[in-house]
Amino acid sequence: MKTMVQSARRLEGTIVVPGDKSISHRAAIFNALAKGDARVYNFSSGQDCDSTLRCLGQLGVSIEERSASSDKNDPRELLIHGGGPQALKEPKTILNAGNSGTTIRLMSGMLAGQPFYSQITGDRSLRSRPMGRIVEPLTRMGARIKGRKNNTLAPLSISGGNLQAIEHTLPVASAQVKSALLLAGLFAKGITIIHQPATSRDHTELMFRAMGINVESDGLTVSLTPKPLVPIDVEVPGDISSAAFWLVAAIIHPNSSIKIVGVGLNPTRTGILDALLAMGANIVVENVRASGGETIADLVAQSSHLSAIKVDGAMIPRLIDEIPILAVAALFARGTTEVRDAAELRLKESDRIKTTAQELRRLGGQIDELADGMRIYGGGGLYGNSCHSHGDHRLAMTLAIAGLVAKGQTTVESAQVASVSYPSFWKTLQHISGQGKAFGTKTQT
Ligand code: S3P
Repeated sequence: MKTMVQSARRLEGTIVVPGDKSISHRAAIFNALAKGDARVYNFSSGQDCDSTLRCLGQLGVSIEERSASSDKNDPRELLIHGGGPQALKEPKTILNAGNSGTTIRLMSGMLAGQPFYSQITGDRSLRSRPMGRIVEPLTRMGARIKGRKNNTLAPLSISGGNLQAIEHTLPVASAQVKSALLLAGLFAKGITIIHQPATSRDHTELMFRAMGINVESDGLTVSLTPKPLVPIDVEVPGDISSAAFWLVAAIIHPNSSIKIVGVGLNPTRTGILDALLAMGANIVVENVRASGGETIADLVAQSSHLSAIKVDGAMIPRLIDEIPILAVAALFARGTTEVRDAAELRLKESDRIKTTAQELRRLGGQIDELADGMRIYGGGGLYGNSCHSHGDHRLAMTLAIAGLVAKGQTTVESAQVASVSYPSFWKTLQHISGQGKAFGTKTQT
């Protein structure tokens, strides 16, 4: 499927983004392991979170979808009937995590603690992403895990149970690896201790604490003492990673005002907001409130004059998923923006350093690819052209936003992949560009 995006005269509107993907995965998995019922409101509509639900279903977890409507724009509500730590059953067939790194890594941590055999795989992109980073420590805890290429790639086969807690130093700041080990730690004897090179998103620690687990964070070290989880209802905030597309659209467009309602502002995730504000973005944070242990707020973004910045070090894990769209903002800034220390980007749904630079260049952007980041030359002047998502949801959406400010028409090939995290993205794009079907996007299969 390809989607055509025209340059828009004005961007305007109020938007509700899908529920946070990271929090949704965790709310489903953790409540499945707790004994009792829990409701999850505003569960992510993205296909990645459906992969998690599908795998949990294959493991015998009963999850009811309570949403009144099947409209992908309406908030989803789940009722999870958690059966407690011993309730999971050996799956009859191979679990499929689809495109979702969070699903395969968190599930593997959980499965490492189960006294049965399971196999888990994913799509072509996921089967090329590194799994050695979870296989090695989970094996040290006592799980028997095999995978392709000397146990570094999926499919993975896991024989779990009888785990012993370990102390582990993460080679990269990865919340997925940290969470896999904390999940395994729930089923291990002793205290699991994890040292991180930098802080990554802490949704697992927050939710575990809310579910009665003793998780201590001391600087960059996290330790967990195992205990059964108590179910909790979760109201999932709007996903800041999805909101980022509209923030950037508004600040680079000369005639715009966009409000995004109910966005999660967990400090381990707000790197994109900090970076855009440091660039001079006209973004106002309104109506800050607490919801389910996380801070949420409304964000109002308008046309801005941006300046280049440098983004590196501990900032990178705080905006890791937003770097492709940050590159678009940087193309419209005064000066040259540098992103460094971000080699991890090469290991995401696509090699995001290569694919972002390559595809934005097709639209006239000037970007140098660096081993660990990008150098982005500001000045704007993008023009419409044909470009490709490389099967990467965040790249498809990044290119569409660039298309809104590029002169003429931009065609995004393989655009349907946006549904991995944001099924209503194209509809919202039409809504804020105010042009309706005839002008905003056209879809061909
Ligand atoms: C995620 C963590 C990040 C992020 C991914 C979601 C999570 O990955 O890129 O989209 O939910 O824990 P890493 O922790 O591997 O960097």
